[in-house]
Amino acid sequence: MTPAKHDPSPADWWREAVVYQIYPRSFADGNGDGIGDLAGITGRVGYLADLGVDAVWLSPFYPSALADGGYDVDDYRDVDPRLGTLADIDALIAALHGAGIKVIVDIVPNHTSDRHAWFREALATGRGSDARGRYHFREGRGDDGASPPNGWTSIFGGPAWTRVVEPDGTPGQWYFHYFAAEQPDLNWDRRDVRDDFLRTIRFWADRGVDGFRIDVAFMLTKDLDPAHDALPDVHGTEQMFPEGHHPLFDRDDVQDVYAEWRRVFDDYDPPRTAVAEAWVPAHRRVRYASPASLGQAFNFDLLEAGFDAVAFREIIERNVADATASGTSSTWVFSNHDVVRHATRYGLPGPAGDDGGDWLRSGGDPAAVDAARGLRRARAATLLMLALPGSAYLYQGEELGLQEVGSIPAAERQDPVFFRSRGADVGRDGCRVPLPWTSTGPSFGFGAGGAHLPQPSWFARYAVDVEEADPDSTLWFYRNALRARREITGVFAWEDGSPGVLRFSRGDEWRIVANFGEAPVALPQGEVVMTSAPLDAGRLAGEATVWVRR
Ligand code: GLC
Ligand code: CA
Repeated sequence: MTPAKHDPSPADWWREAVVYQIYPRSFADGNGDGIGDLAGITGRVGYLADLGVDAVWLSPFYPSALADGGYDVDDYRDVDPRLGTLADIDALIAALHGAGIKVIVDIVPNHTSDRHAWFREALATGRGSDARGRYHFREGRGDDGASPPNGWTSIFGGPAWTRVVEPDGTPGQWYFHYFAAEQPDLNWDRRDVRDDFLRTIRFWADRGVDGFRIDVAFMLTKDLDPAHDALPDVHGTEQMFPEGHHPLFDRDDVQDVYAEWRRVFDDYDPPRTAVAEAWVPAHRRVRYASPASLGQAFNFDLLEAGFDAVAFREIIERNVADATASGTSSTWVFSNHDVVRHATRYGLPGPAGDDGGDWLRSGGDPAAVDAARGLRRARAATLLMLALPGSAYLYQGEELGLQEVGSIPAAERQDPVFFRSRGADVGRDGCRVPLPWTSTGPSFGFGAGGAHLPQPSWFARYAVDVEEADPDSTLWFYRNALRARREITGVFAWEDGSPGVLRFSRGDEWRIVANFGEAPVALPQGEVVMTSAPLDAGRLAGEATVWVRR
């Protein structure tokens, strides 16, 4: 154990935590059926402890038809039989806790799956039933109600309404789904919906879960009044409504839901934590991050920015200030299961890389990516992030420097984004390919069998066993950085930089320099504790970060 500054009070463990996101189906396969599972994760707790993370966030492992990778939940208080049992999750929680690692689980409250008992009941009981009232059902327009209630589209493509067949076999009402048709949106005006999620939170908190990641936290409450049907579509209409009163997004009244959740979180000792996935402007994010609400919110600003000193500086400045003002800590994230991996984004053409959308649409050819440059920049950005105050969220595989898998045959794709956009948008499968643990063997050691998404041959280079044997690997870089990070303490302050170079200090001891340019720059006085790339004749190399201790 490293005694050090990161020795917060038990209730404050999350403030500076390094949280490692696991996408369970793609992490490790314990029984060789090609799908990652809970036993697979339990078998890798030693790896997570060696990496030095403080917490693990598990993406959904609940029963699901996988219409959206598990974000279509059939039952919030059970485990998908393909991934294990409730006994397996108890064993995983115990193993992680035994290694000093906290556990965060995903709560998906905006929508259930279409196989959830409530939705089945809504279909079976028909028009006007109490069960339909838990969702957003409406009559269609036009002859026989054959057109959807309005022209809004799903964020995954295609209409946001799907027509059901009534119990008597006739075509009937339509229900609203902002995501896939298999993800009907819940009606959060309903007391029984609210109560059921309070029960779910207690269910997992009672099992020892330390915190929650709240999926699509900026939606839930809605105003689907027909008065809004005149809008041709709903995306991009934020400015047309007074702030906090949009029909779908970031409504003020969603905070009433979280005020109730907060009372449940605070019933536990230490209080359970939560982090909001809220794609909202920075000045609204603080509402979700406030201690009276969820307590923390993802800040996706760096994830959306290119590798650019000016953008980074502005984002860091604002988020540190906002978090301090609202009594929380900031969050930092470059990669997750929804975006192109940052080692790839930063290697795309253009001065600062880009989001990878065009590259994916044009076939995702690995030859179009400067993978070495992407990784070099990713390491520099990561080392900068790990010296900032706040919590750092890592996504499985980034510690290997893993690149996005851009080309996956259409027949193998799984993401509903691919199907609903008719292939125009290939979707998010490329960051969800099962991890390589060994450079040889079936599925590169992911399991004894295959892998549910195809792994390219170049995965061998990034395998854990290869990197473990190489002290200059990205894996050792992450391990060393997470260990050294525990020593970093003190107030964050900018120091004078120069164009393309950010410099800041933490307390009296630590100096951090991030060089976004290509020319080497001078090092601060002191002991070089970490660099993201080898020094260049005693200077900090281009596109590199250094931690220096005085
Ligand atoms: C969140 C998840 C994403 C999912 C969506 C719908 O954005 O991160 O993976 O598709 O919610 O639940
Ligand atoms: Ca399995």
